[in-house]
Formats: sequence, C-alpha cells, structure tokens
Amino acid sequence: MKILIAPSILSADFSRINEEILSVEPHCEMIHVDIMDGKFVPNTTFGTDFVEKLKCSRPMDVHLMIEKPEEQIEAFAKAIQKAHGRKDDCYITIHQETCSHPHRVAELIKKHGIKPAISINPATPLYTIEPVLDSFEMVLLMTVVPGFGGQAFIESVLPKIVELRKRAPNLNIEVDGGINDKTVKLAVAAGANVIVAGSYIFKAKDRLKAIESLRV
Ligand code: DX5
Ligand code: ZN
Repeated sequence: MKILIAPSILSADFSRINEEILSVEPHCEMIHVDIMDGKFVPNTTFGTDFVEKLKCSRPMDVHLMIEKPEEQIEAFAKAIQKAHGRKDDCYITIHQETCSHPHRVAELIKKHGIKPAISINPATPLYTIEPVLDSFEMVLLMTVVPGFGGQAFIESVLPKIVELRKRAPNLNIEVDGGINDKTVKLAVAAGANVIVAGSYIFKAKDRLKAIESLRV
C-alpha cells in the first residue's frame, strides 16, 4: 500500500504554526493535529479556535484524545472546513477507550462529511475494535502511550499491526508515536501504511530529508 506521511504539529512552534505547516506540506500527504483535553491524557493542547485558524492545504488528520468526543464532532467539523476549505478528504480519529458507542460516533462523523477513524492505546487489545471495524475508514494503533511527543516507540504493538493487516488487507492502518527512520521500518514491515511523526520531522535540521527517510 502507498505510504502516507502525516507530520504531527504537536512538535511544531505554535507561535508560527502556519509557517511550520508550510514547511512540511509540499512533502507530505496529511497534517496530523493532536487534540488533548487534560483528562483522557495528562496534557492539554488546543481546541477548535486554534484549529479553525490553521491553513492546511493537505487533508487534516485530527486525533481526538478527549473524553466524550461525540460532544465536539460538530465543532471540529466546522473548524476543519475553515482550516482546509473542505472536509471530505479529512479524518477525525476517536479513541475506543473514550467511547461507549463507537458505531454511533462513526455515523456522527460521517454525517458531518468527514472520514471516521478509531484508535487504541498500546495496552488496549485489538478485539475491542473488531466489532466496529466496518464503520471506520482508518485504524490508528498508538505506538506510545498518548499525551506527549518525543516518547520511545513501544515494540510490543507490532503483533497487533500484523494481526490487523491480516484481517483487513485494504484498511488504512496508522501508527503514531516514536516514529523515526528505524522504527518506521518495523511498523511498515508489520503492515502499517499511514505514518505519523512529530519530533522526528519538526526537530530535524532538514525536514524534507526526515520526511523522505520515512518512505520505506
Ligand atoms: C502523542 C501524539 C502524537 C505525537 C507523536 O500522544 O498523539 O501524534 O505528536 O510525537 P512523536 O512523533 O514525537 O512521538
Ligand atoms: Zn496523534
């Protein structure tokens, strides 16, 4: 499957965020936007006010690490429309751990014209999302415990990637956390095709070179 690279702006300089996005956009397929609420994860980022002011020409990949995501889907859909000018090529990712009724939230995301994705933490088994796989267009298998950039890749997630790829040959399987030119090889060999990287890209001297080194 084609490798899609999604730089995570969590590691970018927020005070000049649109310049930061411009520095990677010509070289990547999506822009990954991390929303953290200080409850589901012990860190807070930003909300819809910030997201709507982003200027993203690439499709947006909005990763909701928030409790009760269903209450904010409509607001994020509006913010994505403002930032990107359309919504139908963008994803909103919810976490299985925050969601009692993932089928319903997937329908809600679709109703707002966005592609639904679902994520599980490294400690959450794959069987927890198997019953809902058909409702989602992408699965994000976290390769760190969510909350912060710059953490080490958790290799014990690799068997989950292999198992999911066997079960869903055409599904977009995304990995997020601790990705660099070495760990990406493990993730892609296991079956991942959508690659999120924050610190590895934004802290690199040469961002273009860093992005290209992820296309394994
Ligand atoms: C972590 C976030 C990631 C983060 C990854 O909870 O979901 O998207 O930006 O950062 P790196 O690539 O530095 O591990
Ligand atoms: Zn993320």
